Amino acid sequence: MTQKNVTPMFDVLVIGGGAAGLMAALTAGQHGRSVAVLEHGPEVGRKILISGGGRCNFTNQTMRADRFLSANPHFVKSAISRYQPSHFLDLLAKHRIAWHEKKLGQLFCDNSAHDIVQMLLNECAAARVRILTDVRVYDVSKSDVFRVQTSRGDMTARSVVLATGGLSIPKLGASRFAYEMARQFGLAVIQPEPALVPLTFGGESEEWVRSLAGLSLPVRVTCGKTTFEEALLFTHRGMSGPALLQISSYWSAGQPLFVDFLPGQDIAALLMKLKKEGSKARGAGALARWLPQRLAHAMVELGAPERTLAEWADRDIRLMAQRVHSMELKPQGTEGFAKAEVTRGGVDTKALSSRTMEAQSVPGLYVVGEAVDVTGWLGGYNFHWAWASGHAAGEVA
Ligand code: FDA
Repeated sequence: MTQKNVTPMFDVLVIGGGAAGLMAALTAGQHGRSVAVLEHGPEVGRKILISGGGRCNFTNQTMRADRFLSANPHFVKSAISRYQPSHFLDLLAKHRIAWHEKKLGQLFCDNSAHDIVQMLLNECAAARVRILTDVRVYDVSKSDVFRVQTSRGDMTARSVVLATGGLSIPKLGASRFAYEMARQFGLAVIQPEPALVPLTFGGESEEWVRSLAGLSLPVRVTCGKTTFEEALLFTHRGMSGPALLQISSYWSAGQPLFVDFLPGQDIAALLMKLKKEGSKARGAGALARWLPQRLAHAMVELGAPERTLAEWADRDIRLMAQRVHSMELKPQGTEGFAKAEVTRGGVDTKALSSRTMEAQSVPGLYVVGEAVDVTGWLGGYNFHWAWASGHAAGEVA
């Protein structure tokens, strides 16, 4: 008797075994669906493992829609109000995973990001989710059900969840798959760009910025109407650090940044006081009372009187104050997807239900996580979006 080749049929096929895909899969499994995850890499959850310096900043206690960028700023509201940080903390408690707050509501594992991946794998196993790694997905088409062509043969499913993430860190398996599939099914894609990414500088600013490589200090940085106050790090290629990474998500080519190197203080008033006291300090010496020495020298090198502060004109003080509190710097570009923590842009939210992540025009097709045009701030927001959107899709897929 010859064995007939049967195409495996699932309720749900999740393509991509990252944070969002695993959450969608385990949630669908818990709802009694037969689920398989198709991951093209050798293991699932690789970005979770390297995140947060190996401790995974898995969520943030302050979960609000204004912490996310999207062409539709309201899109995240439904998912993040139904899946909150406390839900993820309940899951951690069930698996006895200890965590702590580092700063600004950012929650990290005490031990290791491995705990999070193992927890997701255990939940998937309990919900009978099949996880297939090293699988190539060649195509997805739909008639009455979805047919998914893979390197392990064809599979069919009633629902398909696209969870292949964005383009950052190509060496960890990032691909354009979700965008290509979305376009194939007629869904619009907003141009993906690197975000939470170091910025580079050219021309004169490049030399100035480079001369400060290695220096880190708290600043307030503004781009357009958006401001962040956190640490800035000068690097050999440009600028990085939390303040700069945050603002990079709001920056577009050609826009200037304004950096306040002494937020919360008034350098003009401080220098004026020194002047009145007849200070014999020269420019850098005076500035170094409030700024790191290297930065004080770099400020003076941009032009300042070669006299003691007592001899500075008020206009010289005003000019220096403007430089310290509102230095205009024009980035040349970003360090690209190789260094970007996330991708902004992605599958247009207009095409999706904000309640379920299902494509309005393709019943049964869902897009979750970073593949969607939703980008969180630094600080656990991107993982939270992965959990919340994965959960929303998994409940109904
Ligand atoms: P994710 O990229 O995690 O998963 C997509 C999966 O799909 C991957 O396993 C990939 O291999 C697979 N895949 C891709 N193409 C495929 C294809 N064609 N076929 C099959 N599988 C395919 N966020 C945060 O909130 N806190 C943090 O601490 C950090 N830290 C951090 C550090 C670093 C270095 C990076 C690069 C990123 C972070 N992030 C973060 C961001 C966070 O990692 C990211 O937003 C989530 O992992 C997104 O989850 P997704 O599941 O959507 O994509």
